[in-house]
Amino acid sequence: MKARVFSGIQPTGSPHIGNYLGALKNWAKIQYDYESIYCIVDLHAITLYQDPKELRQKIQELAGMLLAIGIDPAHSSLVVQSAIPAHVELAWMLTCVTPVGWLERMTQYKAKSAAQETIGDGILQYPVLMAADILLYDAKVVPVGDDQTQHVELTRDIAQRFNSLYGETFVMPETRLPSVGARIMGLDEPEKKMSKSVIGSGHAVSLLDPPDLIRKKVLRATTDSNPAVDFDRLGPGVANLLTIFQAFSEWSDARVRQHFAGMRYGELKKQVADVIVAALEPIQKRYHEIMDEATYVARVLEESARRITPIANATVEKAKRAMGLYTPD
Ligand code: AMP
Ligand code: TRP
Repeated sequence: MKARVFSGIQPTGSPHIGNYLGALKNWAKIQYDYESIYCIVDLHAITLYQDPKELRQKIQELAGMLLAIGIDPAHSSLVVQSAIPAHVELAWMLTCVTPVGWLERMTQYKAKSAAQETIGDGILQYPVLMAADILLYDAKVVPVGDDQTQHVELTRDIAQRFNSLYGETFVMPETRLPSVGARIMGLDEPEKKMSKSVIGSGHAVSLLDPPDLIRKKVLRATTDSNPAVDFDRLGPGVANLLTIFQAFSEWSDARVRQHFAGMRYGELKKQVADVIVAALEPIQKRYHEIMDEATYVARVLEESARRITPIANATVEKAKRAMGLYTPD
């Protein structure tokens, strides 16, 4: 039997090249080597307020985008988290074995809670729900960007604690980062991670940006006071542009160095924009075709949920038995 892969993405904002290079590209690539489950995590999205109408629409659009980047529903399951109640059931059981201190230490919790006037309990619980997502399916491999490494580590800690208290129940998952592009930075602020929630016209390249907008954003990207690429003195902005190029092109380090050493920033930016446009063009074309087919996305989501719900329910049952909770025989 093939080992299982699980990963998730929130249906908030619009997916960008950081999501693509950090995670989604890997999802499409490894799906034939594993049994893959990819999940639109709407229950994670609501840890911060979402407009209900917009959320519904974003779930559909994100599903269409995941199909467009190459998730193949004949091989992989593509599901919406809230369609499978087992995620929440297991999350509660895991909550009860998780010390609050572990959750308060999470970098993402600290960043998100600092930005809120009142801190919803969901923001604190967020990584426990993520642990439930992963552990429900005995996933061995979790392909994510660098910012999720800490959450996958926490998942292992929670699994270990549950196993030691109640007996071997969960499989230990491992993070799978891409070799290049695990952390793409904002074009305008290369010290900050490219983020869906930053509303700035020059911050992120959305996967649906038209070519002229992509070129405009890349040409405006922050660099430094050097005139040309110097690999001994790479500022964060130029390093980020080179990473974006390399992650899209899949060139070796040596080839990238040889090609870009001494290149003026204007030309570097032009070539970075070209490689992005070339990669996104076929994705955008497929996206529009998929969204034009009235019931296709809904059908994929329903079939996938039907396929994997029994796996999730079996794990909940196993965890309930392990804890001594009521299970009708
Ligand atoms: P999110 O949009 O937070 O649901 O993230 C979906 C996936 O994209 C996760 O695996 C993240 O680690 C990854 N990701 C998000 N932002 C970036 C970024 N700037 N660079 C690389 N990967 C990212
Ligand atoms: N927290 C992840 C993010 O924001 C999304 C996510 C939820 C996830 N559940 C998951 C990723 C399970 C991997 C596995 O990017």
